[in-house]
Amino acid sequence: MKPILFLDSGIGGIPYCRHFHRRNPGEPIVYLADRLHFPYGKWEKKELAAILTGLIEQVINITNPKIAVLACNTATIAGLSQLREHFPMLPLVGTVPAVKPATLASKNGKIGVLGTELTIKEPFIREIAAQYGNGAEVIGIAAPELVEFIETQFNTASPEQRTAMARDYLNRFRAAGVDSLVLGCTHFLFLQEEFHQEAAPDITVFESVRGITKRVESLLEEQHTKANDAPRAENRLLLTGPAAPEPSWIEWAEHLGFSLSLLEKA
Ligand code: DGL
Repeated sequence: MKPILFLDSGIGGIPYCRHFHRRNPGEPIVYLADRLHFPYGKWEKKELAAILTGLIEQVINITNPKIAVLACNTATIAGLSQLREHFPMLPLVGTVPAVKPATLASKNGKIGVLGTELTIKEPFIREIAAQYGNGAEVIGIAAPELVEFIETQFNTASPEQRTAMARDYLNRFRAAGVDSLVLGCTHFLFLQEEFHQEAAPDITVFESVRGITKRVESLLEEQHTKANDAPRAENRLLLTGPAAPEPSWIEWAEHLGFSLSLLEKA
């Protein structure tokens, strides 16, 4: 049975993968964490697109997925169109920052986007805001240190540290007058609750987890490739890089109930 691939630079795609997996326990899943090229936000668009093309080629040879989800905004902005051209037979689902709903909901036309350097630098998010909001202004903040915090310290951070991280960014958006904030990097979903709590009552927070699950579910219907709901044992967590997995990856694999291996040995 062909799996569904979820891909991110690290743990960022896990909230997306987990949401989908809970609703579709019978779908075999391969989660690929490209820790070799982490963080994605620091790459140039062209370089990252080439990295993603190579990775997906490797995964196709190993597991031949029926759908690939780029559970990463940066990867989507950098590579989705090129990947679609390169792999015309593989349905690809991208994670786009939720700028459209945020723009439509905003009362004052000031949209905050928290993302990686690449996401904030690229014109993509401003183009969406321009398309859906009459004169909407995007206030983008690149937060590579928040990506790093979540990737390396989330598991051990205290609730106070997590809240402080979210509060710090929200204060900057508040000072800029935004009323709608987009969590434009999948890693930030780990602090979703903290962002919602600290944002209320004046800022509304938007993300894309449910939208991605729905998109994959409808593709499965369209393709007639939906598995039955009996839970499976063959879900996998694959890591790039030659070194042995860090303890946190072993914990994630246990937590998800996925088998863990290195891509190069898979
Ligand atoms: N999780 C990724 C995103 O959604 C990127 C984080 C990174 O590797 O820089 O943009």
